[in-house]
Amino acid sequence: MSGTDAEALARRVMFLVHRDLPREGPGNRESTARALAMVPEIPAAAEVLDIGCGPGRQTLDLAALLPRARVLGVDAHAGFVEDGVRRAARAGVSDRVRFAVGDMRALDVEPGTFDLLWCEGAAYIMGVEAALAAWRPLLKVGGCLAFTDAVWLTDSAPQTLRTWWQSEYPGMRTLESGPVRVTDAGYALCGQFVLPEAAWWDDYYKPMESRLASLRVEMESEPAALAALAEHQREIDYYRRWSDHYGYQFVVARRIV
Ligand SMILES: C[S@@+](CC[C@H](N)C(=O)[O-])C[C@H]1O[C@@H](n2cnc3c(N)ncnc32)[C@H](O)[C@@H]1O
Repeated sequence: MSGTDAEALARRVMFLVHRDLPREGPGNRESTARALAMVPEIPAAAEVLDIGCGPGRQTLDLAALLPRARVLGVDAHAGFVEDGVRRAARAGVSDRVRFAVGDMRALDVEPGTFDLLWCEGAAYIMGVEAALAAWRPLLKVGGCLAFTDAVWLTDSAPQTLRTWWQSEYPGMRTLESGPVRVTDAGYALCGQFVLPEAAWWDDYYKPMESRLASLRVEMESEPAALAALAEHQREIDYYRRWSDHYGYQFVVARRIV
């Protein structure tokens, strides 16, 4: 198989594995609510921007938790934006929850307009430090940013796991780095916590694992596809085995300058 064919296959498998999952990364409504409760003050009719919103699970959770807020979810993938629009219509909140295709590196929004920026599991794509710097001007002074990022919880992870994360997220930092990153970037830390394991399983790895099981049956005559599916399964197996060593940190910070 040529390099181009292998890439096309990996993309096809990725699409089949991730299509219509409840969410596209670790997280749950309890954690979104817990992070929101760390925001010191937020106007009732807040303007909220959810960056890298995926299919919009936390976008809609934010809308439910802030019943008078206007929420805009932005994602680079048009299919997720369409999912978000459908889900907002089903929840009856399309009048105040919108979705748009956009690039987190060049967001087409007015500076100084948001009371709250949200980003679950996506800031790593442009790099957390770059995201903190690029997004701060979008907030009103005193507005808050909440984001999650994968972090090491111990310094004793086995080499196999370290090597895997080195290829997935070479810039992965430790738990202590969250507060330092935000203060270095002109924010004050409001709070932080590590997502519970349920936030990895309930809406993310469990649905993905049952999808993988059915795709293995559908693709049993395609060895290359099975190998690509095994890579997705490996990610889940590593978490099952080594979740003590890494997790997702939620960080909430306030723009002070
Ligand atoms: C790990 S997923 C998290 C999605 C969602 N926040 C969730 O937790 O379900 C990362 C998301 O970032 C989006 N993404 C990737 N590159 C992007 C970019 N340059 N600008 C905006 N979104 C991007 C992906 O399409 C994907 O939906």
